[in-house]
Amino acid sequence: MTRPNGLTDALLAACAERHGTPVWVYDAATIAARVGELRAFDRIRYAQKANGNLAVLALLLELGVEVDAVSAGEVARAMEAGHAPESIVYTADLFDDAALEVVRSLPVQVNLGSDFMLGQLARVRPGARATVRVNPGFGHGHARKTSTGGESSKHGVWHEDLPRMVAEARRLGVVLDGLHVHIGSGSDFDHLTRVCSAVRALARLFGPELRRVSAGGGLPIAYRVGEAEFDVERYCHAWLEAKRAIEADLGRPIELEVEPGRRLVAECGVLVARVRGVKLQGAQEYVLVDAGFNALLRPAMYGSWHEIEVLGARTDAPRAPRLVAGPLCESGDMWTQGPGGEIEPRDLPATKEGDLLVVHDAGAYGASMSSTYNGHPLAPEVLVQDGVARLVRRRQDIDELLAQERGLDR
Ligand code: LLP
Repeated sequence: MTRPNGLTDALLAACAERHGTPVWVYDAATIAARVGELRAFDRIRYAQKANGNLAVLALLLELGVEVDAVSAGEVARAMEAGHAPESIVYTADLFDDAALEVVRSLPVQVNLGSDFMLGQLARVRPGARATVRVNPGFGHGHARKTSTGGESSKHGVWHEDLPRMVAEARRLGVVLDGLHVHIGSGSDFDHLTRVCSAVRALARLFGPELRRVSAGGGLPIAYRVGEAEFDVERYCHAWLEAKRAIEADLGRPIELEVEPGRRLVAECGVLVARVRGVKLQGAQEYVLVDAGFNALLRPAMYGSWHEIEVLGARTDAPRAPRLVAGPLCESGDMWTQGPGGEIEPRDLPATKEGDLLVVHDAGAYGASMSSTYNGHPLAPEVLVQDGVARLVRRRQDIDELLAQERGLDR
């Protein structure tokens, strides 16, 4: 929840000046530091849905991190950034036409989230190898919508069905050599380490071909000041112990990977928006800024908390409860709201037209979940590395918004 050191007041103000607002700004050093914390795993695989910017994917490649892709589009993104197709894992609960074509024509790895995918995979890639994403019967995330285990989640192969799927794979000539469990996003230490014992039990149900285990992602960050930090060292330790236990059970080595999205990129990024005016609705003060849930969907979708800072405000400036809202024609376009959409005024310093607001921890599930709702073009992205701020995505222009509908029958 603290802003990365590399993103100074002057740098953010200069980005806003140069590229306009809203603008996303990411700090490369923070990403590198987060990667460094997970080196105990044999492989770190980045869940690019958190932030698929090509420059971010290229930076992670340099740092020795491989990527996960959930669609043909994400496979293309990873390859465009320089990742070799054989290093990319396609994980999903279904193949659409584009994904099947990718799997047919490129040597990407496949992680199967549904049993019905086996036959489809065997058809396009006879003799394939694949891993299985298992739903261990429990899940946990920062919100109900981000839990991906248990009966109320569509994700993964139900744990009790694993032996049947292993037998079916043999019949179809598919080699299942890996086990993957991801219980949800923004989970906590207790739930994430419960996965260790679940995976150990599942490994015993697996076939003799088991070579790889993925712990999935879901590692949280502290979004609020004063919130307990996730003990990443203890997490790594728990998984190394689980790995040793599984290896002892199987009598041979396995490879252990981890698949975080949020943990690697959330804290590196901020969204900078400009205050366009302040107004009162009865007793409530509204600060209206030029970015809403078209840019960062998380507060509207989950009631997620993001620290909001008034750029350049003195630390001792008096604070009062204020609401911050965006430009969209939706009452839910509000930065300061709870999970049920209830307004949650936030103690903030006074602002005026032209001030810049900095929304913290916006590097994960920020730009990647943006939309053009209400006709707002997608905002630009800037990556700061070694003190240099580089534009890594330009602002979309309104012409581009219209291009796909021009020149067609009407
Ligand atoms: N692996 C799989 C198979 C996943 O489905 C996900 C996230 C991850 C890894 C990465 O999870 P992470 O380490 O980032 O928690 N839009 C939501 C998060 C949805 C995550 C979806 N899957 C949010 O803004 O909180």
